[in-house]
Amino acid sequence: MRSAKDFFAPLAVGAPPPVREIPFTPSRMIHFFDPSNEKMVAKAPDIAKKVDVLLGNLEDAVRADNKEAARAGLVRVGKESEFGATQLWTRVNSLDSPWVLDDLTTLVTEIGDKLDVIMVPKVEGAQDIHYVDRLLAQLEARAGLSRPILVHAILETASGMANVEEIAGASPRMQGISLGPADLAASRRMKTTRVGGGHPGYLVRTDPVGEDLSEGRTTYQQDLWHYTVARMVDACVMHGILPYYGPFGDIQDTVACEDQFRNAFLLGCVGAWSLHPVQIEIARKVFSPAPEDVRWAKRVIAEMGDGTGAVMIDGKMQDDASVKQCRVVAELADQLAARDPELAKEYGNE
Ligand code: GLV
Ligand code: MG
Repeated sequence: MRSAKDFFAPLAVGAPPPVREIPFTPSRMIHFFDPSNEKMVAKAPDIAKKVDVLLGNLEDAVRADNKEAARAGLVRVGKESEFGATQLWTRVNSLDSPWVLDDLTTLVTEIGDKLDVIMVPKVEGAQDIHYVDRLLAQLEARAGLSRPILVHAILETASGMANVEEIAGASPRMQGISLGPADLAASRRMKTTRVGGGHPGYLVRTDPVGEDLSEGRTTYQQDLWHYTVARMVDACVMHGILPYYGPFGDIQDTVACEDQFRNAFLLGCVGAWSLHPVQIEIARKVFSPAPEDVRWAKRVIAEMGDGTGAVMIDGKMQDDASVKQCRVVAELADQLAARDPELAKEYGNE
């Protein structure tokens, strides 16, 4: 057993001390790009201005014969660009792949000072995070880094789901968890054949109204991801880290993408992945609270004074618990406004 006192000691001599709190840095959209694609590399500095997080993807969607080019492309992007307040993340290959050791070694050594977060796919349990944790400490010590690189797990195996609480708490480096609906569906043997979102076959139907079983019965499509996202949010909040919805693969269906992102936002997620520029604006809209909700939240906070007791506002009862919810919205609005001047205007924060 590891002593609680040792939890915040570096895991290698000369490695930076672990963080004690995960900073809330806006990360409404984690924008994926393929660093083996020259065109995307050339566009990276411009895209970086429009997103909270730019992520160089080395894993799935990068062909096996492009893995090394992708790694080298990301090193170039990291060395040649300044991203200002935009974070630079990567998704490395899975821990059982032939590429991950070189991914981690090269990236930490070459651009470790630029990388904020490393996303680890197909995490099965705390043992995967412990492996990455120690290796990163060794590499950080060798590279002489002064701040630790954080780790983000993708929840995309049935085993990872069953162990999600221990994954969230496996290391002080744990920054957050994203749902990976495509791999998770495969691992669970779901029959969905798509990347995220709902499925028309997953529904409930009203009772029969007469003899004819097919007459007059309304069906309602259900949310395939409700249990998964809700449990992931609880695991993350319990350990002081951030939950995210992952990819929505139907790029053309901007309406369903917005719905999926909003469900995640309402359940507690702070962001989602954008796989195409069209999804950047959707994530920005959805994961920034609506100005009218921010106005309402600030009004409740103001009228509740010291936050105790109860008041009626427009016929609605407010008490300690509703003012706490309003603080969540108002604090998020302030944090986002500090990064986003347009939002600051909309929220009246200037
Ligand atoms: C993402 O990686 C997913 O599998 O959905
Ligand atoms: Mg995946």
